[in-house]
Amino acid sequence: MNITAALSTLSSVQSEVIGIYAFQTEKDLKTISKELSLPPLKDFSGKDNESLLLYPALHRSRVFIVGLGDEKKFTLEKLRRASAAIAKKAQSLKAKSVSILFPALDISNPTTPEEISTAIVEGCLLSLYKFDKYITKEKKNKNPQSLSIVSLSKVHIPKINAGIDRGIALCVGTIHARNLENAPSNEIYPETLAKDARQLAKSKRFSITIFDKRKIKSLGMGGVIGVSKGSINDPRFIIMEYGSSYKKNGTVALVGKGVTFDSGGISIKPSANMGEMKMDMSGAAAVIGTFHSVAALKLKKHVIGIIPSVENMPSGSAIKPGDIIKHFNGKTSEVDNTDAEGRLILADALSYVSKYKPDIVIDLATLTGACVVALGAHATGMMGNDQKTMQELTQAGEKTYERVWQLPLFEEYEKQIHSDVADVKNVGGRWAGAITAGLFLKNFIGNYKWVHLDIAGTAILEESKEYIPRGGSGVGVRLLTEFIANWKK
Ligand code: BES
Ligand code: MN
Ligand code: ZN
Repeated sequence: MNITAALSTLSSVQSEVIGIYAFQTEKDLKTISKELSLPPLKDFSGKDNESLLLYPALHRSRVFIVGLGDEKKFTLEKLRRASAAIAKKAQSLKAKSVSILFPALDISNPTTPEEISTAIVEGCLLSLYKFDKYITKEKKNKNPQSLSIVSLSKVHIPKINAGIDRGIALCVGTIHARNLENAPSNEIYPETLAKDARQLAKSKRFSITIFDKRKIKSLGMGGVIGVSKGSINDPRFIIMEYGSSYKKNGTVALVGKGVTFDSGGISIKPSANMGEMKMDMSGAAAVIGTFHSVAALKLKKHVIGIIPSVENMPSGSAIKPGDIIKHFNGKTSEVDNTDAEGRLILADALSYVSKYKPDIVIDLATLTGACVVALGAHATGMMGNDQKTMQELTQAGEKTYERVWQLPLFEEYEKQIHSDVADVKNVGGRWAGAITAGLFLKNFIGNYKWVHLDIAGTAILEESKEYIPRGGSGVGVRLLTEFIANWKK
């Protein structure tokens, strides 16, 4: 879709659909009806989620009005949702062109025109996404091809343009992540996941190193080797590096769980919904997507991305309950359950990343069903060793609405993962499963600030949200890009 800023008045807009935001105020509603030469919009009050499709005589186009609710309670998320409603309406009307009138906020509102246009772009582009590459019959959804954000004031135009560029950069990364997540595991397995990352590195000119099975083995990454043993698809260990000339501004490392299919292994999962486990590489997808967005925005930060990637399968050669693994940092773990595989591969990655002397390491993983039980689909579970970083991530979460919620890593939980035969056990029993997984990882971190994000509930959606269709959500990309953009060493 082609997205532009346009200086225009309502009466001269030519698009097939014109989207207008309305606050729940008499003044706003009066202005709109006057501008459109309509009688008062009696049954429409501008509440959140309220909408109205009109065919005013003045226009050859249709006008779609969406409520933004109370002006004083305005948030960017409301704007994303309202924008998604406009985009989806335009799509269902098969309109090729859409114009959206830049909303007139109260002057006391601190939200910038740039932030506003970014949110409009996010709502539109992210809501129109559909994973349909394998559908061979004629595709029903024909998306609008142009969107213009219309402003009456010239001074806003450069800011709107900057916001559009930022919105596009964030969406490109998020959609990249969604495509990787939703791709079936016969398309995306460790080798092809690595290929995808390599292609991105090439087009965005950042560096990438990919270790194959032999190299992984020779480095002593027992977790990655162990989990991958049951599969005919060999593991890969992907290292991306962006912006090495910005080292003086500090180094952020991202680590993403890249299990391209999680059958559970010998501790096999029940068959219902097992297909969702093609998305068990959502952490990896978020890291690749974030690199896409960070590179598109040309952020001046040094960013490392590490992805241990495996397929977790049962077979005669698979890792077995009771096996003991030696990880990259020399620590050992007892594999009590082969379905707790994510932490085994992350252990190697979290210790390997020390090599880059990162100031901060953030790992993302669809790590535990327990996190889904605790927080559902509306918050990512967050644990870590640095309160300030977690506070900054919380802020980035509020801004992007990819919200995070902290869980405690109290040492009292540690005895649940005590092992009699190794340094640590890979499962901690029934209670506080997201926390014991976090504590397992803590054994393998180096001398850096660390945050663990359990995205099991937010990455894999059973139900659609306003601008996120069900399936892979691309969660993490907007959150991390926002965090990295604002982060200071
Ligand atoms: N990939 C799963 C976690 C998961 C579950 C993600 C549901 C998304 C939705 C992970 O590898 C796993 O199987 N975890 C086990 C751990 C248990 C054996 C300690 C779980 O949560 O059941
Ligand atoms: Mn598992
Ligand atoms: Zn898993």
